[in-house]
Amino acid sequence: MHTVSTVAQARALFEVLPRPLGFVPTMGALHDGHLALVTRARDESSAIAVSIFVNPAQFGPSEDFDRYPRDLEGDCAKLHRAGVDVIFAPDVAAIYPEEFSTTVDPGALGTSFEGALRPTHFRGVATVVTKLLNIVRPDVLYLGQKDAQQTAVIRRVVRDLDLPVRVTIVPTEREPDGLARSSRNVYLSSQEREAAPSLHRALQAVRLAMAGGRTKGDALAAARGLLHPLAHLDYLDVVDSDTFEPIDILRPPAFIIGAARFGATRLLDNIWIDA
Ligand code: PAF
Repeated sequence: MHTVSTVAQARALFEVLPRPLGFVPTMGALHDGHLALVTRARDESSAIAVSIFVNPAQFGPSEDFDRYPRDLEGDCAKLHRAGVDVIFAPDVAAIYPEEFSTTVDPGALGTSFEGALRPTHFRGVATVVTKLLNIVRPDVLYLGQKDAQQTAVIRRVVRDLDLPVRVTIVPTEREPDGLARSSRNVYLSSQEREAAPSLHRALQAVRLAMAGGRTKGDALAAARGLLHPLAHLDYLDVVDSDTFEPIDILRPPAFIIGAARFGATRLLDNIWIDA
């Protein structure tokens, strides 16, 4: 396994790796959710590249960029065991040199839900993923379903900019009690950790209620009642999975999406309603 940190080193390696090349972009602090992406990539590719880069451009000024969990050594050991060929772990100056000024703006899709609460977030995600795709030039990009709106934004960027890559979305990995695996789960206190699976239970309740014929308004109201008192809900809705426009009936392809704060930690989750 090679670990490289400059764009030039990375390009040189990616040019000679066997194809198809699968690529998993991450911000490190790897958990089983990331490893599920790597496993899927390994099953489908001749070589696998993983990037580890905590991208400052996707954090707002009052967000957790400085305290975001970082464990490069532990991450490299996990990726080595998982059979990854190349880890690209650049520093901030390698991705955003001093004169850097171009950004990729995903438009309206990046302004609702997560984008309404974190106005610069999806521009930061779209910009770094476009850069990473240009550096790695993979055949397949693997993304986790947990960040549902991110998957929609990146699929749109790939389509709009004709980027020559196929996007594969891998289902969310969960703890036994249903909590979606996330690097931010380590921030939860033990009480918050107990409360956190109520977000997933609320999403499941929306699905059951709407599948049983209740209106979206009724389903959302009943589901809100299932949230633990420690949960501060940011949103709960049913959206078209491509446009992220709210929809009133459970018509695939759709996501039931939710985000809630447990203390200082924001957690996202969703249920994919497949065609
Ligand atoms: O999902 C993430 O970890 C990040 O948003 C990504 C896709 C690696 C871009 O920084």
